[in-house]
Amino acid sequence: MKTIKTQVGIIGAGPAGLTLAHWLKKHGIEAVIIEHRSREYIQGRVRAGLLEQNTVDILKELGLADRLVKEGQEHHGVYLNFDGKRVRVPFGQLTGGRNITIYGQQEVVKDLTEAWLAKGGQLLFEAPALELEGIETDSPKIHFEHNGEKGIVECDFIAACDGFHGLGRKSMPKDAYKEYSVTYPFSWLGILAHVAPSSEELIYAYHERGFALHSLRSEKVSRLYIQVENDDHVDNWSDEQIWEELSVRLGTEGWKLNSGPIFEKSITPMRSYFIDNMQHGRLFLAGDAAHIVPPTGGKGLNLAVADVKHLVDGFRDFYEKASMQALDNYSTVALKRIWRAQDFSNFMTTLFHKQYEHGSFHYQLQKAKFDYIQLSEAYATTIAENYVGLPFESFEALD
Ligand code: DHB
Repeated sequence: MKTIKTQVGIIGAGPAGLTLAHWLKKHGIEAVIIEHRSREYIQGRVRAGLLEQNTVDILKELGLADRLVKEGQEHHGVYLNFDGKRVRVPFGQLTGGRNITIYGQQEVVKDLTEAWLAKGGQLLFEAPALELEGIETDSPKIHFEHNGEKGIVECDFIAACDGFHGLGRKSMPKDAYKEYSVTYPFSWLGILAHVAPSSEELIYAYHERGFALHSLRSEKVSRLYIQVENDDHVDNWSDEQIWEELSVRLGTEGWKLNSGPIFEKSITPMRSYFIDNMQHGRLFLAGDAAHIVPPTGGKGLNLAVADVKHLVDGFRDFYEKASMQALDNYSTVALKRIWRAQDFSNFMTTLFHKQYEHGSFHYQLQKAKFDYIQLSEAYATTIAENYVGLPFESFEALD
């Protein structure tokens, strides 16, 4: 039986768990990460790639952004399409210079893992957490398995950064939280293709054949998505059909979509989920363990990193001032941004997906919103400031 003693035991080496470990170490707080999957798996897992200004600033501050700065692409605006008409929402002038950066989530995970191991940080791969013990006491434990051997992490706190299906949330008593869940009646078929991006900035499009999104990963790799049925399957779509659909849905006068070999295809369901309490005793949840947003707007990773900021504030208060106050306030503080992100992700999803008859009442509402972006700088600003992410100080003004 292997016993590891640390201050904060972290389950999950995704963006939340890794950022938390680095940030705690910066403040002299010890952490150990156990991760169910292999290193190859977590570094190869294709996810979104939109980093808000806050996220980039945090990674820079932690000294983890060298490759991100070199290879990531800062975007100063976004294109929005509706029925073939395209408008641009500029970020700089509407948000006082805040921006987004496109850099794949798995690249963030790669960089943070490498840096953590290089610092001598402890991280066990292929080490599933089996059970949490004593979360209502001052000395909780994570029981895990590694290389066929059982082990225990003995710690002061457990941070469950173990995703939607993880053990963290399942270990909270059912009556400790209320659950909110919405499933959308469509999914995304996402592709990665070896082809130069057809636009230097992202394009979100409503079309009567459904939503489409043009994103990118590098000068040679494009990332694109189309709305499909929930019961659809990648095998139903040939490469030619996907390119044809993207070209029609993203189309606007004078613009052409480049196509090329597709090397990754997958379907993602769309859901909004969250719980109204992310702490029980000495157990804290962060990231997808506590909330899922639909991907439109790219908020998932950014919310996870924002959770971590509030957790670090709390752990510092505990270890530096012996106060539990900030930790006990964690859910309340984190949920303000989570609600904001749920609203914005829902707004972007509703605005750009085909859900109602073309020409129907609800379609007209979608179109009226799109028209309003062009009519009102205030409305465009609302979109821009949510898209790049509100500064942390903004939420402090709320009770
Ligand atoms: C990406 C994904 C998103 O959901 C989004 O809103 C923007 C970009 C991406 O994978 O690049």
